[in-house]
Amino acid sequence: MSMTIHPSASNFGAEIFGLDLREPIDSARYELLEDALSAHGVICFRDQAVTDADQEALVRWFGPPNVATSELSNASNTNPYFYDVGNVDENGEIMAREHKRRLYLQANLFWHSDMSMRQPPARVTTLSARVLPDDPPNTEFADLRTAWSALSPARQAELEGLMIEHSVYASRARVGYTEFSEETRKRLPPVAHPLVRVHKRSGRKTFYMGAHASHVIGWPLEQGKALLEELVEFATQPRFRYVHRWRAGDVLVWDNSCTLHRSTEFDDQKYRRELRWCSCRELEPV
Ligand code: OGA
Ligand code: MN
Repeated sequence: MSMTIHPSASNFGAEIFGLDLREPIDSARYELLEDALSAHGVICFRDQAVTDADQEALVRWFGPPNVATSELSNASNTNPYFYDVGNVDENGEIMAREHKRRLYLQANLFWHSDMSMRQPPARVTTLSARVLPDDPPNTEFADLRTAWSALSPARQAELEGLMIEHSVYASRARVGYTEFSEETRKRLPPVAHPLVRVHKRSGRKTFYMGAHASHVIGWPLEQGKALLEELVEFATQPRFRYVHRWRAGDVLVWDNSCTLHRSTEFDDQKYRRELRWCSCRELEPV
């Protein structure tokens, strides 16, 4: 089967045809997928019937899988590299409004880059849709390379070199979640990343920011926070977006080093939504 790539009209976001992810890929195909990811930021495979093992095997081509933290894991989840994304609890029931994990997951409604609070952070995330509501909520993506290149050279020069603090506490504070274990606090101290990076495969400059980013190191807190808010607002304008309309069987793959994404609301007390998340990390600290 030959693999074909169908980019979106804007070129940000693409669908890949001709791959059955239950079959192992080879290094030639892997390079084509990296190229597609580099060119389009987000790629989607339709009609896949993957197991966790298939999904993990795909992730391992891109890099070492990240161990997921306990706060987001369902007790029924036995694979350390996976999160359950959606609204189903450890007993397979729709999570009650006050469920702790429901609150935690609500931080996904803010534009973010997965695991930017780690060092090294996540690079590529895969998300596979196992069960969806009839009218599934979209997941939205923003193209941080194109947003960066839309700034004037003078503005770019002001921003280059700034270092940003990222932490899971910053993003969860936005939804009022503060219940972290001592063990988590020790394991996940705040980290620093540059605001502007060179995206490795394309060589294009990109922002690196999102909901885990709290402030600019060396600046007054409020001033840094305001700058980050302004930049996220700028970079996530509709003209920089790809909106993913989910279908059951979709496997979505995105590059966290040059994109932001967010979930959108749905009636989560009525419909089930179950997706499986597995990501890999950058090979080096950034
Ligand atoms: C994620 C995420 C968005 C969604 O799984 O990392 O942000 O729409 N999900 O569930
Ligand atoms: Mn996410």
